[in-house]
Amino acid sequence: MLSVGILTADLLRLGEELSVLDEVGVELAHVDVMDGVFCPQMTVGPPVVKTLPDRFVKDVHLMIDEPLAKVDAFVDAGADILTIHVESTRHPHRVLQHLSGSGVLRGVAVNPGTPVAAVEPLLDEVELILILAVNPGWSGQQFSPGTERRLADVRALTKGRDIVVAVDGGVSKANIDSVASLGADVIVTGSAVYDGKAPAENARVLLESVARVPAR
Ligand code: DX5
Ligand code: ZN
Repeated sequence: MLSVGILTADLLRLGEELSVLDEVGVELAHVDVMDGVFCPQMTVGPPVVKTLPDRFVKDVHLMIDEPLAKVDAFVDAGADILTIHVESTRHPHRVLQHLSGSGVLRGVAVNPGTPVAAVEPLLDEVELILILAVNPGWSGQQFSPGTERRLADVRALTKGRDIVVAVDGGVSKANIDSVASLGADVIVTGSAVYDGKAPAENARVLLESVARVPAR
């Protein structure tokens, strides 16, 4: 599946930009939440998640420090997928436990510099693992080559479990076929869709690439 990062859209025309996703059949809208502490940029919070139409699966990626006190606001705002970073808190297990029963799909994200094995103790408390192919903070970066090995490691760790594997960052029209072949269930892409030129055409091409790979 394709999850499209909406913050690279023209935010003054967000409604129209989102209708491009409807037109093409993209169901997941990825919201990058940054707090200026965990990563340098600051973006948006629960009010924007709430504003997104419920027809989208709201895929909320929290790049915020110590998220425990903040996650409930995103649940209340209608997040369907809520992903925290394993590096963002001393207590990732506790945050995930706290979200148990909240109705969200609980995700844990791993930066390129963090061993994938960091998620192993969390496997009983997650429904999704998000492998970052770039360092969080900016769209339009290069897909890190080590991601292939990291995705293979995650697939091995999650074998036999009902855990969604996702990849985020640096996915373009040029590399989506090879990224799709790496076996992630969800591919996140932002600037490759919202490039200020042809978002519908971009989304169509990216979606077709993803659809060509049979679901595992
Ligand atoms: C990394 C974010 C990504 C990223 C996606 O900080 O989590 O979602 O901005 O943007 P592209 O697809 O442009 O790399
Ligand atoms: Zn993201």
